[in-house]
Amino acid sequence: MTRRLPIAVLALAGCVGTIPHPDERDLVVARSLAHDATLDRLAEGRRLYVGKCSSCHALHAPRERDDPGWRKVVETEMAGRARISRDEADRILLYLCAVNDRPSG
Ligand code: HEC
Repeated sequence: MTRRLPIAVLALAGCVGTIPHPDERDLVVARSLAHDATLDRLAEGRRLYVGKCSSCHALHAPRERDDPGWRKVVETEMAGRARISRDEADRILLYLCAVNDRPSG
């Protein structure tokens, strides 16, 4: 446990500002998009985004696109390239469309 801590801290520091971890502020936005949104679902969306969308190119920061922009790129192109299910695409989109409202997201 103590030996793992430094790695976890480093991994976290590397993500801040680019692919933010969802928090309560993002949940407020997410609830306006999906009534059943929870922090767990947002965290799962981030995990899927990092896990499924980074094999071909660097991850794009959520703030790079507005909600319709993300829907378009994921639904028309990247869901197919990443071979993800409809449900996985929805979770990734919920994360991206919640966090892209942040100035630093
Ligand atoms: C199998 C490879 C592959 C995977 C997996 C993949 N992409 Fe892409 N993506 C590409 C290619 C190729 C391009 C176009 C060239 C580029 O921008 O690097 C692209 C471009 C993009 C762009 C820029 C589009 C534009 O018009 O500016 C975004 C945003 C993006 N991908 C998001 C995602 C997301 C979100 C996922 C996960 C659901 C994902 N990508 C998974 C291959 C992939």
